[in-house]
Amino acid sequence: MGNYPNLQSKKIILAVTGSIAAYKSLLLTRLLIKSGAEVQVLMTDAATKFVSPLSFATLSKKKVHTQIMDDDAWNNHVDLGLWADAMIVAPATANSLAKMAHGITDTIIHAVYLSAKCPVFFAPAMDLDMWKHPSTVNNIELLKTYGNIELEVGVGELASGLVGAGRMAEPEDILHRLNVFFEEKQSMTGKKIMITAGPTLERLDPVRFISNHSSGKMGIALANAFASVGASVELILGPTSLNYSIHPSVNVKSVESAEDMYQACIKSWPNTDAAIMAAAVADYRPRNIADKKIKKSDDDLSIELERTKDIAKELGKTKKKHQILIGFALETNDGEANAKAKITKKNFDFIVLNRLGDAGAGFKHDTNKVSIISKTGTVNHYPLKAKSEVAKDILVEVQKIMP
Ligand code: CTP
Repeated sequence: MGNYPNLQSKKIILAVTGSIAAYKSLLLTRLLIKSGAEVQVLMTDAATKFVSPLSFATLSKKKVHTQIMDDDAWNNHVDLGLWADAMIVAPATANSLAKMAHGITDTIIHAVYLSAKCPVFFAPAMDLDMWKHPSTVNNIELLKTYGNIELEVGVGELASGLVGAGRMAEPEDILHRLNVFFEEKQSMTGKKIMITAGPTLERLDPVRFISNHSSGKMGIALANAFASVGASVELILGPTSLNYSIHPSVNVKSVESAEDMYQACIKSWPNTDAAIMAAAVADYRPRNIADKKIKKSDDDLSIELERTKDIAKELGKTKKKHQILIGFALETNDGEANAKAKITKKNFDFIVLNRLGDAGAGFKHDTNKVSIISKTGTVNHYPLKAKSEVAKDILVEVQKIMP
């Protein structure tokens, strides 16, 4: 048996749904308990047909919950969701994954899932054809966009006798993943990260403004990724209509214009270990802001625009040896060459290039397709992924160069 020191004293919800693979979760429970974790097992009614709750209760030394309402008590799913350091849905059937993906809460597991603030892992288990069905494939992709973590299926003989993908991940592998996860969770403790995100808004008169299509999704995903590994994150966020969820430890500073964003960044920069400039900052603003609404006439109207400050460039000028500065570039043509020029001009350590022309990439999408270009010229291309996954790729690159 492996050694999993990071599981010591961790509070784990193990959610068992109705699959023949439920027997593997008995071993999973045993390994978790042996590693010093506290385990609360939840089961669906279907799961209890495969393995007895008594077996789980004996191994976990805790009463197993199978209903939102037991004979004598209401099992508070909100409290359970807040109690846990991690929730593992294993085995996760196609049915239970579909319910998780679409917010159906007809079992205690799904009610707890929707209330959970902790990271959620899911270990699918199903027959080959169910596994390949587009419905399952789409539900798993959806779950990943919510930040849930897939524990990949194995390939082999399935309960039906078919051979292929669909076997639940092995308990030892799950323990290993959890152990690494909790180790990484602390890897940025003590680091101060500043992230700019969203558009800026440049006023023209009391009712009109110049802005852009940025939603802030990428920057918010980055803030969440860094906060979840223990960093102290300041998110300097331009005006967004996005209904976003943010890690409780992120300090959000809302700003409006490029000038506001500049002032906020300059103030925080000296105490920052790494800054990630994901905002789409307006390059120009109206030279004059009318204090009354501009009335139309029969003539055309010209608006004089002046340059805003280049925030990234200003930070780059005073960057200290221990500091990291990362830029974003959105290009329609000559992407790599343009992005490389920006690395030099703004003193970036690396730049994240996304191309507007790529399907599913850029503004407002939940996915993004990026290339990361380092100051030494190395280019890494990544496939189209959920923005939360792209944020993790960027996190890994920052970790590599963090002193
Ligand atoms: N940036 C900034 N302040 C600005 C403009 C841009 O901090 N006033 C940052 C962005 O957040 C991004 C990078 O600089 O990290 C983008 O560089 P930039 O040269 O502004 O890109 P574009 O605006 O796309 O440039 P261009 O219009 O020249 O292609």
